[in-house]
Amino acid sequence: MQDMFFLTSLCCLAVPRNFRLLEELERGEKGIGDGTVSYGMDDGDDIYMRSWTGTIIGPHNSVHEGRIYQLKLFCDKDYPEKPPSVRFHSRINLTCVNNETGVIEAKKFGMLANWQREYTMEDILTQLKKEMAAPHNRKLVQPPEGTYF
Ligand SMILES: *[C@@H]1O[C@H](CO)[C@@H](O)[C@H](O)[C@H]1NC(C)=O
Ligand SMILES: *[C@@H]1O[C@H](CO)[C@@H](O)[C@H](O)[C@H]1NC(C)=O
Repeated sequence: MQDMFFLTSLCCLAVPRNFRLLEELERGEKGIGDGTVSYGMDDGDDIYMRSWTGTIIGPHNSVHEGRIYQLKLFCDKDYPEKPPSVRFHSRINLTCVNNETGVIEAKKFGMLANWQREYTMEDILTQLKKEMAAPHNRKLVQPPEGTYF
């Protein structure tokens, strides 16, 4: 009886989340667009698929051009109902990033503040790349390349 209850819970809560993350994994492995945005899972053994690393190559016409930025995304068990937590691992100076922790501050990054279930990690990374090229960010003095939060 208890086993049955357990299986029922798995069927109705965990599967849609896993299905969604498996789709994202597959897409990440195929490679996205021009390759300037990518991501993959940190630990292939984590059945909950929680920890991911994203990479953004800085956009043209900005101080970020050609720089390689690493980010950490954490999809908790309530993903995709709730957004993942996202932080830069590589140091960066952007208005939406906490300058001490690298965490993206939701109130300064609309996609996290107004999260919708359809949004993906790819969307977040693509939007952050656009953010780097935005007028309020593209000329900010940057920390040395290859330094980390
Ligand atoms: C980080 O941001 C805070 C608040 O915006 C500011 O007071 C502080 O000087 C900044 N620190 C650095 C290292 O830029
Ligand atoms: C971020 O950029 C602003 C404006 O260029 C600058 O005053 C500030 O010191 C920079 N912060 C860091 C941590 O480099």
